[in-house]
Amino acid sequence: MSLSDIVNPHILSQPVYEPGRPIDDVAREMGLDPAGIIKLASNENPLGTSPQALAAMAQALGQSHLYPDGGCLRLRSRLARRHDVDLARVVVGNGSNELLELLGHVFLNPGDEVVMGRPAFIVYKLVTLLFGARAVEVPLRDHVHDLAAMAAAVTDRTKIVFLPLPNNPTGTRNPNADVLAWVERLPPRVVIVIDEAYAEYLEAPIDWTGIFGTGRRLVVTRTFSKIFGLAALRVGYALTTPEIAALLQRARQPFNVNAVAQAGALAALDDEDWIDHCRRANQRGLRQLETGFTELGLEWVKSSGNFVLVKVGDGARVSQTLQSDGIIVRSVNGYGLPEWIRVSVGTESENARVLAALGRLGGG
Ligand SMILES: Cc1ncc(COP(=O)(O)O)c(C=O)c1O
Repeated sequence: MSLSDIVNPHILSQPVYEPGRPIDDVAREMGLDPAGIIKLASNENPLGTSPQALAAMAQALGQSHLYPDGGCLRLRSRLARRHDVDLARVVVGNGSNELLELLGHVFLNPGDEVVMGRPAFIVYKLVTLLFGARAVEVPLRDHVHDLAAMAAAVTDRTKIVFLPLPNNPTGTRNPNADVLAWVERLPPRVVIVIDEAYAEYLEAPIDWTGIFGTGRRLVVTRTFSKIFGLAALRVGYALTTPEIAALLQRARQPFNVNAVAQAGALAALDDEDWIDHCRRANQRGLRQLETGFTELGLEWVKSSGNFVLVKVGDGARVSQTLQSDGIIVRSVNGYGLPEWIRVSVGTESENARVLAALGRLGGG
């Protein structure tokens, strides 16, 4: 009997997530000094981690022989206060990706349907397929989620609907009022997952407190990987109904978030000045990239996140050429956008470097 005879068939057909390439990988392949390479491929915070969070994590390392608080009580309490919700509504995960997967554990069976945009953050599809459910992908319109078409795609078999605000890789988001009206209109049976990985970059993210009061099956996910600069530590969280939170808690590993990550996240939340500084720097970086792309005659998509989708002709070739120049960006071929690349906002000099390199390519 071959191994494939005993493997879960969903695993055999499961697509593999392709992350932004690590600096060391590219350095080895291209024969470059890692110190000279910039990574603008995974929407990380180019300014790094809050100094307060770094100090808190250094201190937490001293307790490495102890298991972390599996219930993340301090962090959950802090998040409950921040969002003005009950503690029972907060679940912390090993990155928000873990929470997306836990939703699959809790809700999905073979034959179920999950509605999502195309292109939308790829993990929604990966989670759907992992549990043998069917991904119902609704094409975006002008790079923005088509809420009416998504609502129309909901059937009796639909368990979950995913909406990222803003979306990755497009950086676009639907207006708050449209989203709130859409949530109201969807059948109450359906679990609505709003992925707010980039919410801290927005001037005015949606205030969900009204909806939480209605008992709607809403799950809002957030992450510490983006503006909070803790991507390596893997911390994310969900705000949802107490019932869904209890189910997610049941499905997770006992110690899913390590103690250093918990300490870093707690301290990062307190460092408001750092977050404001990063938000403002991101605004300047977005303008710098937009202006630069326009001057190069490249089409780009208006972004609410910390990255920009830009049309370069042959995205795979351009990202390969940029890599040989020590610049890692994201090819978005896998998202069905072969002519585009996704560029994360870097520091001012990193942005200038990617613009100069694209200029040398003649805009693709
Ligand atoms: C829209 C979106 N959601 C979730 C994530 C995953 O974040 P985390 O690092 O918390 O797993 C990302 C990461 O790029 C993202 O773009």
